[in-house]
Amino acid sequence: MSASDPLVAAARAARERAFAPYSHFRVGAALQTPDGTIITGCNVENASYGLTICAERVAVVKALSEGHRTFTRIAVVTDTEAPTSPCGACRQVLWEFAPDLEVVLANLQSVTVVTHLRDLLPLAFNSQLLRRP
Ligand code: THU
Repeated sequence: MSASDPLVAAARAARERAFAPYSHFRVGAALQTPDGTIITGCNVENASYGLTICAERVAVVKALSEGHRTFTRIAVVTDTEAPTSPCGACRQVLWEFAPDLEVVLANLQSVTVVTHLRDLLPLAFNSQLLRRP
């Protein structure tokens, strides 16, 4: 796993397309499916602020709308020294489709952290909990 990882490169390219005129914090994400397909996303901000969508969720909804349902890895890229890990809402949305997801955090130079969604979202809420006895 390195900065030359195609998934990281795709997330880095997606970050270039971020629409972030309010925060100026540009984020790129790239999801990988089991067959190696890569689907990207960038953050899309809104003047209302609250309607802003994170890069990770853009990638997920794009992927789902194109028929993908399972994912093996996600890369998230920002231009920061410290790793930017997915926000709580994105973790929960990712969990729905990929509890075993590997999460690769990188900046413009290198990969800073490799972790797993399971470790970022312990005791997650999931569909099993909707079942009644
Ligand atoms: N953002 C993401 O796209 N992903 C994250 O993991 C953290 C935050 C975006 C939302 C907003 O456009 C900007 O970064 C600042 O919060």
